[in-house]
Amino acid sequence: MNLIKSLTQRLSLPGTALVFVSTFAATAGFAQSNAPATSIQIQADKVTARMPPTFYGLMTEEINFSYEGGLYGELIRNRTFKSDSFPQPIKPEDYDPAKFYPAKYPANAAPKFWDSVGGAALVLDTNAPLNDALNVSLRLDAAAASKASPAGVANGGYWGIPVQPRTAYKVSFFAKAAPGFTGPLTASIESTNGKVLASAEISGVTGEWQKFEATLKTKGLKPSKDNVFKLTTAAPGTIWLQEVSLFPPTFKNRPNGDRQDLSQLLEDAQPKFLRFPGGNYVEGNNFNERFNWKQMIGPVEQRPGHRSCWGYWSTDGFGLPEFLGWCQDVGMEPVLAVFAGYTLNGNHVTNGPALEPYVQEALEEIEYVTGDASTKWGAQRIKDGYPNPFPLHYVEIGNEDFFDRSGSYDGRFAQFYDAIKAKYPQLKIISTAGVRSRTADLNDEHYYESEESMEGQAFKYDTRGRSNPTKIFVGEWATRVGSPTPNMAGALGDAAWMCCLERNADIVLMHCYAPLLVNVSKIGGKDRSMQWSSDLIGYDALTSYGSPSYYAQKIFSLHKGDEVLAASAENLPLRTVPAGRGGGTRQIKSLFYSATRDSASGRITVKVVNSADTAQPVTIDISGVKSIAAKGTATVLKAANRSETNSLKEPQHVVPETGTAKNLGTSFTRSYPPCSITVLELDAK
Ligand code: AHR
Repeated sequence: MNLIKSLTQRLSLPGTALVFVSTFAATAGFAQSNAPATSIQIQADKVTARMPPTFYGLMTEEINFSYEGGLYGELIRNRTFKSDSFPQPIKPEDYDPAKFYPAKYPANAAPKFWDSVGGAALVLDTNAPLNDALNVSLRLDAAAASKASPAGVANGGYWGIPVQPRTAYKVSFFAKAAPGFTGPLTASIESTNGKVLASAEISGVTGEWQKFEATLKTKGLKPSKDNVFKLTTAAPGTIWLQEVSLFPPTFKNRPNGDRQDLSQLLEDAQPKFLRFPGGNYVEGNNFNERFNWKQMIGPVEQRPGHRSCWGYWSTDGFGLPEFLGWCQDVGMEPVLAVFAGYTLNGNHVTNGPALEPYVQEALEEIEYVTGDASTKWGAQRIKDGYPNPFPLHYVEIGNEDFFDRSGSYDGRFAQFYDAIKAKYPQLKIISTAGVRSRTADLNDEHYYESEESMEGQAFKYDTRGRSNPTKIFVGEWATRVGSPTPNMAGALGDAAWMCCLERNADIVLMHCYAPLLVNVSKIGGKDRSMQWSSDLIGYDALTSYGSPSYYAQKIFSLHKGDEVLAASAENLPLRTVPAGRGGGTRQIKSLFYSATRDSASGRITVKVVNSADTAQPVTIDISGVKSIAAKGTATVLKAANRSETNSLKEPQHVVPETGTAKNLGTSFTRSYPPCSITVLELDAK
C-alpha cells in the first residue's frame, strides 16, 4: 500500500488534523494590521493573457457516492447483486489485461441492501447467471406467497427512494422462474410505513431470462425519500432476478442518464471541461480494479462492474459513454485521463513490452471518444448512442504519479506520449509528475489546503518563471474547510486562489476543483456515504444544494471575460493566522484581486476577495480607458462569519446577490464587507 497516499486518504475523513487546523483558524480571530490605504492598479491597455477557453472545469470520480447514489439516475442500490463479491487483488505480474476475471461470491449469502418481503428467502445464486458479466443472480424462494401475503424483495436505494408528485419512474429487470410459477410480479414504490405510492403488474415470466419493463406513475403527493422499491408476487414459486433498475426522469431525458437537480446545478455554473474518469479512480487499488473502460461500454447488463478504490462496488452503469453524455448535456469538453500502468497500492508495470497493452488501450479509448463510423471504437461509441465524435484536446497520462517512488513514471510517460503523439499529433499531453525524457504539454498540480494555506499561496504563480514550455493544469484543488461541504472560509480560500489562477492564465491553462459531489445522507460510521470531506455540492436522495464554494466558483465562471488585464496592488492588508502544526502565528494577505475583460463589450470585471473579519476599503485605479460609467454591477457573496454555510436544511443561506454599484470611475474607492467575494462589472469606454 502506498503509505503517503493512504495517509492522505485517511486525512480526508472528517475529524482529522486538516479539519482541526481549519476549525481553529475559523474561531481564532484575526488581528488587523494598520496598513496604509490599499489600492489596486489595473492597466486596461495591457492584456497579459487570453482567458483560456478551458476556464473553469469540473472533476470528480466514484467517491462519496458521486455517480451511483449521486449523479447517475439509478435509484436501486446493488442492482446487479455483485456488492458482496470478494476482493481479488491480482499482482501485476500475474495479470493479463486482455483477460476477464469473473467475480466470486460468498456461499449461501443474501445480497447486501436487499430485504425480504413476506418471508421470501433470498440467496445469491451463481448457478443461474444472466451472462458472464453478471455471473450471479438473486434467487427468490416465495413458496408461501399468497394474495393475502405477497412475498418478494425490497430495496431502500441510496439512503431512500425519492418520489415526486405526478412523475413517471421506469422499472426494468431481468427475470426467470422455476416451472410452475404463474405470476404476475408487482413492482411498487411504497412509503416505509406501507403506503403504496405507485405500482404496476408485470406478467410473462418464464423459464428463460427475459427483460421486463414497466412505468410507475405517482399521483399528487408530497415529495419524500423515506420509501422503498418492492418486487413481489402473490403466486408461490421460485424466481431469479438480475439488473433490477428504477430510473426517475433524467436530465435532458437521456436514457441511462443523470439526476436532474444535480445536472442543473452543474450546468448553471457553465463549466467548460470535465476531467474524467477521475483521480485515484483511474488507477484503482489493483490492476484488475483500474478504470477498465472496455468493460464500461455497451449495454449496461453486459458490464461486469468493479470494486472502486473508495471502498464500494460500482456497477459501471455510469461508464465511458455516460461520461461523454454528461459532457454533451452540460456543454463541457472531455479531458481524458488514461490508466498509465500504476496502481494505488504502489505496483507498476515497467515501460517496454509489458506496458504496451495499456498504451494500446489508451489509443483505443481515444478512438472511442473521437473516432468516426469508419473506426472500430468510433463505431462502438455510435452503437452506444453517441453518433458524433467528441472534441478532445487533452489527454492525461495517469494520476498523481509523483506517488510512484520507483522512478518508473518517466519511462511510462514517454511510451504513452510517443504513441499518442504519433497517432494524434494534435493532442496535448498532460503529465502528473515531473518528467525529463519528454516535454509534457501541461503538468497536473494538485492542492488541497486549509483556508490560511490557500490564501497564503494565492500569489504563488505570479512569481513562476514564464519560459517553461510545459504549462500548468491544476487538475485538483480545494480549500478543505467544512464538512461535508465547504463553508464561507472555504469559499474565501477558493476565491483567493481563483484570483491567482485568473491573473496567471498565461501559464495556468486549465484548472478544476475536486471533488465535486458528496452524498450527505450518512457522513460518518460504517457504510458511510462520504469518503472525502469538503465537496462542492451536497445531496441526499431527494434534494441538493451548492456550498458557498460552489457559488464562489459560479460567479467567477460566469464573469470571466476573454482577456486578462495587468493588475497589481499596493499595501495589501495582512491578517495574523496560526502558523500550523509547529505553533505560533504568521501573517498572510487578507485581500485578493483579479481583472479581466470581455473584448466584445469592453466590460471590465474586477474581482475582490476580502478574507478579513472587518470591512476593508480599497481604491481601484484603471488606466488605459477613456472612462468608466458611474454605475455598474456588483455581485457579492458574503456571510456574517466564515463558519456560515449551506446545507440540505438551509440550501440558500449563503448565496450571491447582484445589485447596482455606484460612484464608479477610473479611480474609485469602495468598502468590501467582511468575509466577502465581490465581482464588479464596469462599463468602460
Ligand atoms: O479528489 C480526491 C482524491 O485526491 C483523488 O482521487 C486523488 O487524485 C487525490 O489524491
